Amino acid sequence: MNDGIPVGMASIAHSVPEWVVDNHYFERIVETSDEWIVQRTGISERHWLKPGQRPSDMFVEAGNLAMERAGVTAEDIDLIICGSVSGDFTAPSQACVIQDRLGIRNNCGAFDVAAACSGFMYALSCGATFVTSGKYKNVLVLGGEAMSRMINHEDRTTVVLFGDGAGATVLQPHDVCKQGLIEDFTLHADGSGSHFIIKPRGGGWEPMNEEILAKREHLIQMKGREVFRFAYSKMKEMCDWAMAGIEHDHSKLGWMLPHQMNRRILTSAMDALGIPKEKVLHNIHKYGNTSSASVPILFSEAWEDGQLEKDKYLILAAFGSGLTWAGMRIKW
Ligand SMILES: CC(C)(COP(=O)(O)OP(=O)(O)OC[C@H]1O[C@@H](n2cnc3c(N)ncnc32)[C@H](O)[C@@H]1OP(=O)(O)O)[C@@H](O)C(=O)NCCC(=O)NCCS
Repeated sequence: MNDGIPVGMASIAHSVPEWVVDNHYFERIVETSDEWIVQRTGISERHWLKPGQRPSDMFVEAGNLAMERAGVTAEDIDLIICGSVSGDFTAPSQACVIQDRLGIRNNCGAFDVAAACSGFMYALSCGATFVTSGKYKNVLVLGGEAMSRMINHEDRTTVVLFGDGAGATVLQPHDVCKQGLIEDFTLHADGSGSHFIIKPRGGGWEPMNEEILAKREHLIQMKGREVFRFAYSKMKEMCDWAMAGIEHDHSKLGWMLPHQMNRRILTSAMDALGIPKEKVLHNIHKYGNTSSASVPILFSEAWEDGQLEKDKYLILAAFGSGLTWAGMRIKW
């Protein structure tokens, strides 16, 4: 991000569905307990879409709020980038659905980024690159998932982990919005690990049929223990990379905003890096793992609570299916 136009975040917003599903809900469906879920993951409840609600309902609410908070209108938006793999439709893209439902009628470009739990950070990095080029002035970046629609509700190893949600931001040249300077980002992937978190069948290779449906192989399968190890090491790596940019000086750090996948993973990673506990934000107890929405929800709640201090640094880090991982440093 050194040579182009400095990029800022004019706003941050989020949306989660109203329906709160607590851990006891699962005790009636699979063999599990509130105690196991809290102890192994840190999750107490999550929000899920109700039947009939659309994933784009969350994006529209977050998008409208992000535009309002940035002081821009639908017609000001000149590009829409959405990090999501669970849009309303397989095609067209969720970004096009969002464009229509937000009433953006100026034919601006709109596309999705598929990077699972790293989706918002990948989309944010793309958006920042478009603004830094000087060609785009108001880029709406969103991230979110309807995880409840992609998990096997009979599989106790995944069903308890995930929640639904969406987040959004408007990126502008920093001299316009004068906040949230995106100093640097880094994106990574290792496709050889694609089988660790996967919807194995029912895609382009083996389109949906009755056998796939009966075996529920169109839904997410995850190797939890292996993912745990990867997530720990990559989250640590991303936070360490971002902290190196401020000479590992904790006094410059406002907040760590890590993807909320498992409280134990995050606590161990932050302890290993020597990051003080009071500098790390968590909300997994309320939302579970909301995938691409996780970082923007945490970010937006911090903004709403007045916790973001001018000129302090925010470190964002995410890890997800792909495998993908990403880091970012923002000077608020
Ligand atoms: C999934 C996860 C919570 C499991 O916790 P864990 O401590 O690793 O548990 P293990 O996988 O070792 O399983 C321990 C036992 O609990 C069982 N178990 C799994 N889910 C359970 C549940 N919901 N309730 C009760 N028991 C459960 C397992 O079947 C296993 O039983 P076994 O020993 O008889 O085989 C943890 O591995 C994890 O969070 N991994 C990362 C997942 C993630 O972040 N994914 C998204 C990345 S973006």
